[in-house]
Order: sequence, then structure tokens, then C-alpha cells
Amino acid sequence: AAIDDAHRTGYHFQPPKNWINDPNGVMYYKGVYHLFYQYNPKGAVWGNIVWAHAVSTDLVDWVMLPPAIYPTAPFDVNGCWSGSATVLPDGTPVIMYTGIDGENRQVQNVAYPKDLSDPYLREWVKPDYNPVIAPGPGMNATAFRDPTTSWQGPDGLWRLVIGTKDNHRGLAMLYRSRDFKRWAPAGRALHSGDTGMWECPDFYPVNSPGVGGGGGGTKHVLKVSLDLTRFEYYTFGEYDQATDTYVPDAALADGNDGLRYDYGNFYASKTFLDTAKQRRILWGWANESDSTADDLRKGWAGVQAVPRKVWLAPDGKQLVQWPVVEIESLRGNHVNVTDTLVKAGQHFEVSGLASPAQADVEASFQVMDLDKAEPFDPAWRAADAQTVCAARGAEAKGGVGPFGLWVLASDDLKERTAVFFRVFKGGDGGKHVVLMCNDPSMSSHADNLYKPTFAGFVDVDVAQTRGKIPLRTLIDHSVVESFGAHGKTCILSRVYPTKAIGDEARLYVFNNGESDVKVTHLNAYEIRSVKITADVKQNT
Ligand code: FRU
Repeated sequence: AAIDDAHRTGYHFQPPKNWINDPNGVMYYKGVYHLFYQYNPKGAVWGNIVWAHAVSTDLVDWVMLPPAIYPTAPFDVNGCWSGSATVLPDGTPVIMYTGIDGENRQVQNVAYPKDLSDPYLREWVKPDYNPVIAPGPGMNATAFRDPTTSWQGPDGLWRLVIGTKDNHRGLAMLYRSRDFKRWAPAGRALHSGDTGMWECPDFYPVNSPGVGGGGGGTKHVLKVSLDLTRFEYYTFGEYDQATDTYVPDAALADGNDGLRYDYGNFYASKTFLDTAKQRRILWGWANESDSTADDLRKGWAGVQAVPRKVWLAPDGKQLVQWPVVEIESLRGNHVNVTDTLVKAGQHFEVSGLASPAQADVEASFQVMDLDKAEPFDPAWRAADAQTVCAARGAEAKGGVGPFGLWVLASDDLKERTAVFFRVFKGGDGGKHVVLMCNDPSMSSHADNLYKPTFAGFVDVDVAQTRGKIPLRTLIDHSVVESFGAHGKTCILSRVYPTKAIGDEARLYVFNNGESDVKVTHLNAYEIRSVKITADVKQNT
């Protein structure tokens, strides 16, 4: 039991017990952030799904409210699955979610707040006219779900898309409505891909910082979650409002070869526009990677990644993400390392934190000799980063790298999770190839854990940065959530150490490559636990 408690998170959102999955209906409304999420009130496995509800004024501390949406009617009697919130121009929020009806069809329902004067919007009312969207003839009624937030076109009509599939083709089907009540199918997909089912689509405009709203520069992002691989990918491109067409930028691939928000354990994500701070915030679910038996013993399963700000990189080639700045308010004591050389094969401990099991590490590494980079095997060109990292894990010595952090490490170093970079030469245009990996193969003495090495390429020109690559890693007992190159490549991993728990956990810098690496700076902060409090409804 001690070990199981030790894997609960201190600042990644999770309820006191039971199963959670997708974030739902995320929104900001009158000073309050709302997080709804898929929840099993009866246990630590998926089932009996309702919309649990939590609110926060700062995205840090949360008040847990009673479930907002749960089966009550024929149109959702078998479950209240994922969906989104839209704040209408008159300020009224409306939720659109997937109900599983009496025939196990997936239908879309609306719900409105019962009492707009309740600042927490605790109770939601489902009109009798639900469902508002049912699968049409010939559509796959058991794969028709997860409506997006709606947006309004120049003609005043609302639009949304719903995830579905036609055989192996994933589709984001477009619907339109004047009043949120009567919805007409556009009879076509906004976009589709040869990938299997599209779950949890998300469609929204993004800007680069400094690229003005309204005018040029705005791209639209389409993200989908692939139930076959459990990965998400996104494209971005031009959305023509007049014709309701979306054309991804030519350089971007669809499907598993496409860009990902996160190259690790991160799924069913959803964004919202934070009108308080004019930023777009991304929430995503991180499932367990232990066994179902372990989840039942723990009594809980699933956490949410930290909310991340998301925007278009200034070079327009990808999205960038960064933990919302509010997370930094949790920082306490810190230790600092500057200009410290880590020679080939060496490592050192970053000591002085009371509990490196709950920490925020910001580091910048500098490769001293890029000439030592190994050639990038042409056979890897067709492979994804994960395949390369599986072949060249943290223990495989290289020319440049692997170097980075060992987190959640035991004092004998027999348990440790490696977050690291490797640099190869001979990439496109003679550039270096930078790989970022999370290798959990030594993370735990326990059995029955799913421990794949996760990896993504990092679009950083190391010749130009003189070998510098920054890394930020959020460590939270069973979560290792890393942001490479200022948020260009992100990897979340779940690990379950048996010795490296609580204040027994340690933090190291390592270098298993031939080139020396300098830690130009490293700040490791203790992170306080967030406050998760039960709802205390005022009786007036
Ligand atoms: C994604 C998902 C959604 C569905 C929900 C059910 O994880 O499968 O497609 O609405 O979870 O809980």
C-alpha cells in the first residue's frame, strides 16, 4: 500500500480514487476554469462512464464537484462519453457530448447549466429534445463520437465535427446548426485519413506569438486520436470559412507519420481558448502503464498531463507546448548547477532537493564535440524515432549522447528512468539529426509493467545552437513529462519505481556518449502538492 500511494501524483490532476480517461468540456467561464473528465464512479477500470467535474481559478488547485453529466435518459442510458463545451456569444456555455443510447448507438446530446448564477455551474440540464445528432443511414453507429467545440461561420451558422470511421478510413464529419438544436449534416468530412477510427477530434485556430489575430498568419489545427495505435497526430493548414474546407500544409503528413503533441503516453486531448490570458491551453490524458490488477489494488487509474500552452512555432513548421506558467507558482527550494562538464561515460547526482520525486528540472546541455556524432543509418530514414531509440536506448553508448537525466533513480542506480538526447550526423541537407527519448526499461523492479521507449525527433539545428539543447522535465512520482528544445518535442511517460519513491528518489545527469557534454545550467525545483478539495456548497 505504501508503494501504491507513492505513485499518486502531487501536482498532476487526479481524483482521490477510481478510473479516469479523457478530459472533456474544458473551458474558462467567468473567472473559473472547468475540467470535466471521463470517470468511473464505481472502480479503477473503465466503465459506468460519467462526466466528473472539477473547477479551479488558477489551473493549479482544484475543487472536486459532483459528476455534472451522468446517464439519466434513453439517449445516454449506457454512458456519457467524450465531448466539448462552447461558450456562446451571449455568454451561455453549452456542452455537447456523446451519449450511448438504449440500442448502444452513439448519439450527440446537448446540456445547459441549470443555474448560471452558480459560479461553479454544478448542475447541467439535458433538454428532452436530445439527441440532437444521430448517426445517419449507412453510418457506423458504434463509431460516431466525441464532438468538438463549435465555431461560428460568417453565415452565422455553428459548425462542429464528430469523429467516425468508414471501414479503415478515419473521418471528421461536419455538421451545421443555427440554434444548437437542429443540426444538419454537411454530408462530408472536413478531413479524413487512412488510419482507422478518429476519436476526439479537435479543430482550432492558432497563431505564432506576435502574428496578429484577424489578419494573415492564422492557421487551423486539426488533431485526432487514433484508437489503433493510441497516439494522436495533428496537421495544420488553411481553413476557408466560406466553403468550409480545410487543407493541411503540404509539408505535413497524415496519420502515424504526422506530427504529435506528445511522443509518449498522452491521449484524447482537447484544447480551449483561455480568454482571460488570450492563450490556447491543451489538456491530455495519461493512462497507467501498469497492469489492471495493479490498478485495482491501487484503487485508481489515469491522470491528466499538466495543462500546456500551445502555439505555432515562429518558423511555422510545428506546434510548440509549454506547461502553463501557473505551474511555476508551485516551485519551492531549488538547486542550481552551472557550467559543469560531464565527460564521456560519467554521471553526477543533483543533490539537495528534499524530494526529487516531485520536481521541475530545467536544464540546458551543450555538446562539446559535434564531430563525434555517429552517422544516421539510412535504414532509419523510413523508421520512426521510437524504432531508432528502441535500437539505441539509454544504455547503448554513442558518439554524441545518450546524455540527459536519470530521474526517479534509486541510490544504487538500479532503478532509473532516462530522459535523453542522441545526435547523429547525415540528416536532411547535411544537418544533424536530434533524437529525444524516454527509456523506462530500468525504471522499476516490479513486473507486469508496459515499458516501451518513447521517442521523437527534435527540430533543432545543433550546429547553429553550438551544440546546445534545452530540456525541461516535470517529475511527479509516476509521471515523467519532458519538453525538449523549449517545447518542440514532448514526451510523457508513466513509471512505477519500487525503491526510488518519495524522498528515496534521486536525480542525476548522465552522459553515455563519447563527446563531453556541458551542463550550461540546470535548475531543479521542489514542487509543492496542489490542493484538491471537496466541494463545500454554501447553504444560503
Ligand atoms: C477516447 C474514448 C472516446 C470515448 C471515450 C469513452 O479515450 O474512447 O472516443 O468517447 O474514450 O470513455
